[in-house]
Amino acid sequence: MRFSIGFLSLVALAVSAQDTSVRTVKEAFDNANIPTDLHITFDPTALLEVTFPETGSSPITIHAGEQLPRNSTAGPPIFHVSGINCKGPFVVAAVDPDAPTPQNPTNAQIRHFLGGNFTPGEGGLLTNSTPAISQFRQPTPPAGSDAHRYTFLLFKQPAGFNQQTFVTPTTSTSLFNISAFAEEVGLGNPIAGTFMLVAPDPTTA
Ligand SMILES: *[C@@H]1O[C@H](CO)[C@@H](O)[C@H](O)[C@H]1NC(C)=O
Ligand SMILES: *[C@@H]1O[C@H](CO)[C@@H](O)[C@H](O)[C@H]1NC(C)=O
Repeated sequence: MRFSIGFLSLVALAVSAQDTSVRTVKEAFDNANIPTDLHITFDPTALLEVTFPETGSSPITIHAGEQLPRNSTAGPPIFHVSGINCKGPFVVAAVDPDAPTPQNPTNAQIRHFLGGNFTPGEGGLLTNSTPAISQFRQPTPPAGSDAHRYTFLLFKQPAGFNQQTFVTPTTSTSLFNISAFAEEVGLGNPIAGTFMLVAPDPTTA
């Protein structure tokens, strides 16, 4: 028992940077206008944790709307899920609706990740049993741009997903449309998500 206070404060430290409430995440998405801009209905029932490994320092788990320096986002990120009552499989997608700039997103969306066959293991760690369709691509907002909203979404994987050919590893990552893709393959609405803001490297601005 004498360890309990230390243990609790460690837990508090560990969770302080990540999302702990679906309502807060939904508010952050709504305030950033993400559901409108992505043409999605975002009523999350679970939490998706996105963690970036860092060289020489602790990994960073983002909370919705947090801004990260570009050089912390090399990834590939690690995904955890909490608050789900099914075993998956799940699809994870990450898109940038702000390319090349939020004011004039003529290349958007850029697909920064797309993968299926994720199942939760210990602590909700999501591992995929097949290679991602689109491997993680580090944010590279162009010099002079405002920060972009890099948005991660978790979907229940529909039957037949592994046979879809709308997006393959050779499909351009530009001009992607997550809501059109969701309709094509029957993903339904995302059950969880989070996002981060990333601006150009100070050296290139
Ligand atoms: C990332 O960039 C910032 C600002 O340029 C710098 O202070 C920091 O040391 C860099 N971090 C790493 C891990 O390179
Ligand atoms: C993306 O697809 C949705 C349909 O799901 C459509 O309403 C929207 O206009 C499309 N966005 C773009 C930029 O084409």
